[in-house]
Formats: sequence, C-alpha cells, structure tokens
Amino acid sequence: MSGEAATIDLERVICRVQELEAAGARGFTLGGGPWPLRGFVVRAPGGVCGYVNRCPHAGHPLNLLPHRFLTADGALILCTAHGALFEKATGLCVAGPCFGQPLQRLALEVRAGYVLLAPEVPLRGTPDE
Ligand code: FES
Repeated sequence: MSGEAATIDLERVICRVQELEAAGARGFTLGGGPWPLRGFVVRAPGGVCGYVNRCPHAGHPLNLLPHRFLTADGALILCTAHGALFEKATGLCVAGPCFGQPLQRLALEVRAGYVLLAPEVPLRGTPDE
C-alpha cells in the first residue's frame, strides 16, 4: 500500500474516481446520527465537484433515483422536482425556478484514485436537509 493510500480517512471516502466515468455523478451519505451529510459528486470539465443534495428552490433532494443527477445528455445537473438546471462546474442554476441561485458546494480531495470529502467539511447535514 502506498503512503498516500495509507493516510486515507475511510469515513470521508465518497467513491472511486473510476465510478464517475460511466454515470458522471454519484450520490452519497456520510456521517451518522439523525442528520448525516447527503451530497453528490459530478465529473466536471475542471475536475470532480461536490454539492449538498438540496435544491435551493424548495429544498428537495435533486434526485429521485439513486445516483441520477444529470440531464439525459450529461451536460447539466437536473433537479427532478421542478426541473431546475445547474452547471456542473459551478453549481449555479441556469434555468428553472431558482435561476441564479447556487447549490451548496462541498470541498473535495482526490487521492489514490478515490474522491473524498475534504477534512474541513463537517460530517453532518442540517436538520432541514
Ligand atoms: S425543488 Fe428543485 S426545482 Fe423545485
């Protein structure tokens, strides 16, 4: 095992980078207790980006089906509740009822082929998520 792999905090592992190649996005739940952190990661032009799975419009999770966060062509993030569309690299809503509002960004790290939640991000959500 390489030194880099040995230092990975398993509690913060979201997925393998390879898992994003086919689907382009992956949902996750990290942390325990009544309000774990629910988020998703997407493969974007500048790298992998992570967001809280909560739409700025009405606060719903963006997906209905597991790991389904993108439009059919994979170009944008789609909220299935009322159709809001977001840029993958910025999380900014570019069409729909929350136009101009951003998804909440989550800092990530990519190490040893894994996508991890960055150490400074608390492993918990908020009560209304
Ligand atoms: S909750 Fe996402 S568009 Fe309404």
